[in-house]
Amino acid sequence: MGAALDRLAEMGRSATQGGGEARQRAQRKRGKLLARERLDLLLDPDSFVELDRFVTHRATDFGLDRKKFLGDGVVTGYGTISGRLVYVFSQDFTVHGGSLSEAHAEKIVKVQEMALRSGAPIVGLNDSGGARIQEGVVSLGGYADIFLRNTLASGVVPQVSVILGPCAGGAVYSPAITDFVYMVRGTSFMFVTGPDVVKMVTQEEVDMEGLGGADVHAERSGVAHFAADSEAEALQSVRDLFRYVPQNNAERPPRGAGQDAHDRRSERLLDLLPDSPNRPYDMAEVIGEVVDDGGFHEVHAGFARNLLTGFAHVGGHSVGVVANQPNVLAGVLDIDASDKGARFVRFCDAFNIPLVVFEDVPGFLPGVGQEHGGIIRHGAKLLYAFAEATVPKVTVITRKAYGGAYDVMSSKHIRGDVNLAWPTAEIAVMGPKGAVEILFRKQIAAADDPESETEARMAEYRQKFAHPYVAAARGYVDDVIDPRDTRPRLVSALDMLAPKRDSNPPRKHGNIPL
Ligand code: HXC
Repeated sequence: MGAALDRLAEMGRSATQGGGEARQRAQRKRGKLLARERLDLLLDPDSFVELDRFVTHRATDFGLDRKKFLGDGVVTGYGTISGRLVYVFSQDFTVHGGSLSEAHAEKIVKVQEMALRSGAPIVGLNDSGGARIQEGVVSLGGYADIFLRNTLASGVVPQVSVILGPCAGGAVYSPAITDFVYMVRGTSFMFVTGPDVVKMVTQEEVDMEGLGGADVHAERSGVAHFAADSEAEALQSVRDLFRYVPQNNAERPPRGAGQDAHDRRSERLLDLLPDSPNRPYDMAEVIGEVVDDGGFHEVHAGFARNLLTGFAHVGGHSVGVVANQPNVLAGVLDIDASDKGARFVRFCDAFNIPLVVFEDVPGFLPGVGQEHGGIIRHGAKLLYAFAEATVPKVTVITRKAYGGAYDVMSSKHIRGDVNLAWPTAEIAVMGPKGAVEILFRKQIAAADDPESETEARMAEYRQKFAHPYVAAARGYVDDVIDPRDTRPRLVSALDMLAPKRDSNPPRKHGNIPL
């Protein structure tokens, strides 16, 4: 037995050495951590259990038979985050550039299948030169095997991708299918074709960061949901995310541990809205006043900033918050905001996370660019996502709820459960100015003083429509509330809706306008 144990110890040492010291030094020089160090930051101390550490590749071409490393460039296994089981893989760039061989893919597929079978999330730490070139189509097949598992696990267990190095070519499509993508400024890159190919084909000159760095994807393309300044920050942010999401689609999300009183009123909510309905304000402040201990875990913070999405706890309930942001583009819905909101709503609905909507929306963004870019198709996604969602849906209209956007933002008509309005709410087809210019164009043109005629008509319109009471008279909002009571009313609604059961007609799947 002694000799056998010695051999195991020797093999175990060798399995943790990746591609060797020189390559580990090179990895650090690039400003990156090693694959195992990353897992140490992600998981609870001493919770990681490794699988498949003795796996090696089977390829022989191009001298690969002499270049075998135990584990073959990816560390896989399971561990815990705040005591809850998660499956993980962490690509090791020091072994053949973290490139994906047949064996490397098999290891990832194994943990994907285990995650699915045991109903636990999976977190992938990506740092890879892509398909192992020496293995050719076998490597491409390995990617497809991963993509299939990503797709089958979608909506069943949460899937998170953390990009901590290159992620290029078709390899990007695994993270792209997962629920949340994290990137790190300066060291992580995602693109389908790199700067050299781009230059060859389109003559555009761009570096890696400018083409597919963290800020590009977190602010412009929307591919990344989170951008961090360091790997440690990104991995801590993943840990934080799990405070809000359940293990799988059959479980409820974890309750918040905060001590914030459920019946806490907020005087400050009276002062957040400016007197003029056309002045901006920060909806994030409204959210901060209402949720437990002001904690808002924002998702996609840099992308489509006219719509806020993120997680919070309200009276202990984990909720997904979707809110128009009057501070950016007056809070209109545009193409990117619609995509952002729709994907977030669908995540929450898939994972039993109630939706809380704060609404102040003047409508959809007008413009040739938006129309030609397909605002009809994209706006429909958000509408569809809210309409199909069967989780508890609670909406607070703080100010504007105009036009189609009123319908879209989880209105009562598309199965909003509890829809509340502040007395400052304006729920109508459009704002006073636009309305009177259409309805009274002739009268205004014929008036001695068109300006005061416009003013008078607007005052009349405001009196008739720019308030919540027409909607309340029809039951389209369930109540008009004192803004100070927003938190207690939300807690009460979420408590009341906790046992909610709703479903959609049986079908293979719907056909959301993609
Ligand atoms: C095999 C690879 C590799 C790969 C890197 N290496 N990429 N080995 N297959 N795809 C090896 C290198 O030979 C080197 O080995 C080590 O990894 C480190 O690579 P370097 O080039 O020295 O590192 P660096 O300068 O940091 O550059 C990193 C890189 C570059 C930008 C990722 O290596 C690169 O461009 N690699 C190729 C990327 C690529 O085109 N991949 C295929 C994409 S298409 P030694 O032994 O010297 O340490 C794809 C399709 C997916 O992935 C299909 C899905 C459908």
